[in-house]
Amino acid sequence: MFIKKMIEIRIGTDSDRDDVRSVHLSAFPASERETVSTLAVALLSEDTKPETIPLVAETRDAVVGHIAFSPVTLDSNNSFLGYILAPLAVRPEHQKQGTGSQLVEDGIQRLSDIGVHTVFVYGDPKYYGRFGFSVDAAESYDPPYRLQYPFGWQAIALDKAMTEGTSGQIACVAALCDPVLW
Ligand SMILES: CC(C)(COP(=O)(O)OP(=O)(O)OC[C@H]1O[C@@H](n2cnc3c(N)ncnc32)[C@H](O)[C@@H]1OP(=O)(O)O)[C@@H](O)C(=O)NCCC(=O)NCCS
Repeated sequence: MFIKKMIEIRIGTDSDRDDVRSVHLSAFPASERETVSTLAVALLSEDTKPETIPLVAETRDAVVGHIAFSPVTLDSNNSFLGYILAPLAVRPEHQKQGTGSQLVEDGIQRLSDIGVHTVFVYGDPKYYGRFGFSVDAAESYDPPYRLQYPFGWQAIALDKAMTEGTSGQIACVAALCDPVLW
């Protein structure tokens, strides 16, 4: 009989450092794994206002996935409340079981609950499109750095009334201020 493993999503802390690093090292290709795992660990303890939200997915005995949402600012509007999703990874042996989706959806729900207006992501539209992210929703916002893959810049408006007609330059937290990540 096949029993699906229960996954719990919880806030990640500094004590998850080794597990979070290991998740990203296992999931990303060799060319990216060091950079992304360093970012993931840095975001566990990045002191930001509003706060950065790292989430881990764990089974009864191991951390199998991680995601982070950090705040962004918009130069044209001080009351804009935005976040960016980065990075996201699930251990290869746990992929295709819905864990990545659980992490994304749990995170978006938490952001929606605290009144976030827009969530950005820089990634594959074929994956993030399923959660409602779109290139169109990000079009009027300039990313923090010149993008290697401009088609990967996407957003989801959680509060459409607040984001209608909004545009400008997005700035990110210190850990993401590295052109190599973009
Ligand atoms: C992307 C990732 C987090 C998805 O985790 P997961 O737990 O397998 O996600 P889910 O089970 O919720 O969804 C799996 C589905 O996403 C698809 N998928 C995964 N990566 C994809 C991509 N880059 N483009 C399109 N689809 C993708 C899988 O093929 C699968 O499709 P299916 O539902 O039709 O079978 C995982 O594949 C991973 O860690 N990849 C390496 C790191 C990475 O690329 N992170 C994202 C950076 S933008």
